[in-house]
Amino acid sequence: MWPCVVSSFSRRLVASLGVCGRRKCCGTAAFMPEAPAFEGVRSRSELRDFSVSDSERFWAAVGNQRLSWISPFHTVQDCDLTQGRIKWFEGGKLNVSVNCLDRHVHTSPDRVALIWERDEQGSEVKYTYRELLEMTCRLGNVLRRRGVKRGDCVTIYMPTCPLAVAAMLACARIGAAHNVVFAGFSADALAERIRDAESNTVITVNQGVRGGKFTELKKTVDEAVQSCPSVQQVLVAMRTDTPVVMTARDVAMEEEMLKEDVVCEPAVMNSEDVLFLLYTSGSTGKPKGIVHTQAGYLLYAALTHRYVFSYHDGDVFGCVADIGWITGHSYTVYGPLANGGTTVLFESTPIYPDPGRYWNTVERLKINQFYGAPTAIRLLLKYGDHWVTKYDRSTLKTLGSVGEPINTEAWEWYHRVVGDGRCPVVDTWWQTETGGICIAPRPSEPDAEIVPGMAMRPFFGIKPVLMDTEGKVLTSNNTSGALCMAQPWPGMARTIRNNHQRFIETYYQPYPGYFFTGDGAYRSAQGYYQITGRLDDVINVSGHRIGTAEIEDVVNQCSAVAESAVIGFSHDIKGEGVYAFVVLKKNIDIKEDDLSRQLNKMVSKKIAKYACPDVIQLANRLPKTRSGKIMRRVLRKVVERDLDGLGDLSTLDDPTAVQEIVEGHNAILRKQQQKQQP
Ligand code: WTA
Repeated sequence: MWPCVVSSFSRRLVASLGVCGRRKCCGTAAFMPEAPAFEGVRSRSELRDFSVSDSERFWAAVGNQRLSWISPFHTVQDCDLTQGRIKWFEGGKLNVSVNCLDRHVHTSPDRVALIWERDEQGSEVKYTYRELLEMTCRLGNVLRRRGVKRGDCVTIYMPTCPLAVAAMLACARIGAAHNVVFAGFSADALAERIRDAESNTVITVNQGVRGGKFTELKKTVDEAVQSCPSVQQVLVAMRTDTPVVMTARDVAMEEEMLKEDVVCEPAVMNSEDVLFLLYTSGSTGKPKGIVHTQAGYLLYAALTHRYVFSYHDGDVFGCVADIGWITGHSYTVYGPLANGGTTVLFESTPIYPDPGRYWNTVERLKINQFYGAPTAIRLLLKYGDHWVTKYDRSTLKTLGSVGEPINTEAWEWYHRVVGDGRCPVVDTWWQTETGGICIAPRPSEPDAEIVPGMAMRPFFGIKPVLMDTEGKVLTSNNTSGALCMAQPWPGMARTIRNNHQRFIETYYQPYPGYFFTGDGAYRSAQGYYQITGRLDDVINVSGHRIGTAEIEDVVNQCSAVAESAVIGFSHDIKGEGVYAFVVLKKNIDIKEDDLSRQLNKMVSKKIAKYACPDVIQLANRLPKTRSGKIMRRVLRKVVERDLDGLGDLSTLDDPTAVQEIVEGHNAILRKQQQKQQP
């Protein structure tokens, strides 16, 4: 039987406020009820210092207070960064779906959990906590009855919608892991992720609807599962009325759900059992299945959601990220729901039906915190202020940005126009691997300065360090280096699915004893952090992370191509675009337009549309070292027009290759200029 452990957070909150009254530290206690127990903590900055210097006490208090445990943990952490071993809250047992649903149904069943902002503007649908719990339980029962067991992994290929959230939580309820695959990925990319996750069950919808267009998601799944022998069943929900062909493997999901009970006994999970896998790009052609576990991840998502955005009870939180990315996991689903919040599921695009869509949504749903990507902000600012100012945005309190650097122009516009100059803009730095936000301007004192385009301050329990090229910690300010974390925190990734060795090599070997983020950063004279970009071959196209090696793998499969090198380049809207250098096989005669069409088709088919090259430059050869390694650094400098920064070319096999590349690039620029002229 499920022991009744749900206790009221607000009751405990009041109790701690009482303690605070006696200890005369009301400001901090009101800010964080756990704080009065921390000796010497009288301000928010002292609280931050304490969270790092005594991180075990900090996380123990927060973990006890903010999660509902079936049985309490006995060990706060057992981590060794030199070995890539990360364990939090061992001995503890809990269920994540109970933490996200049941305990809020207990206190406020009719509070709105989800507002589904459907693609069709003005047709939003609200779901209370009670309704979301019922939907989750029915689906959990369907999965259980159909043989999905604790420890299995279910792949979810769905647009952002309530049933997708219920699917994630239903997995958590019965102890299965989920593997959400962004619904923009192709059949091949989906198949690769299903195989690596060894899923026996896939959940999808008949069709997706986005920006007024329909996408055939079920068909994509049909194609994908042909090469996935592990898949025994595909649950199909109906997003539109259009019927789809159902095979013996397919299950009509809503029909099955109707047959089930609205009660589903939650599995008793260990803190370190797997909650989900999420595939992300690294510097090789093979995506990594990043593994997150139960308690630590949930706690970190909840705490960052509460404090970075200053989320309060009753607020409407609008994170417009797709659930297929980590931002959707942590700040559309788990963080807000763990906090009993109201969260918006945004199914549309920033410009559908027109460039006022976001702000129309803000007005209609009375959104208090808006969290989006710089690429969308850059796009919208080009359409002009009137698309923003025609809507009432007075409910907005905090504006967030995520996924890539936000340039000053976009930051200023977001702050001045969207937020009327009154809302703090939080540029939040984090990664799939970090589970939640690690560096952001808030929390800090209410009037603490915010510098445009800077993530600035580490979150509670986060200790960033910068490393020089020799692997030594840089201690001074006003300096740049490789961004690492010196201390573990509960939200960090635990391993890479089926490849712990790669996990260690990627994150823990480059700087022994530290977690290496793969990003570079600058620390200002005041000690604030600014992210300067990836140090590896990963690029960020419209906030979507992709490894250049993944694109090269596909380009090289084209029968006309001998070899290729793909790099990112600075792009007005997308942040980074994809620039492909292509060497054709000997005696190949192909028109550039045909090649470009072929490559786009292949990349869309193997990966996704967003990964298609924006520019293709044909070359006779690529600059290489004598050992045959392509020098992407040189290619990047050419495209950045930084010929003085080409550096030492003496290690190149044939330095004249660079001259050819420069000339080829100039020819492309000339062509682009001609096109722009009327
Ligand atoms: C980049 C997204 C600059 C960074 C949550 C990181 C950022 C990668 C920022 C992770 C930011 C994310 N400023 N760069 N505020 N946020 N990045 O895993 O390069 O999709 O390593 O997670 O995005 O991308 P991911």
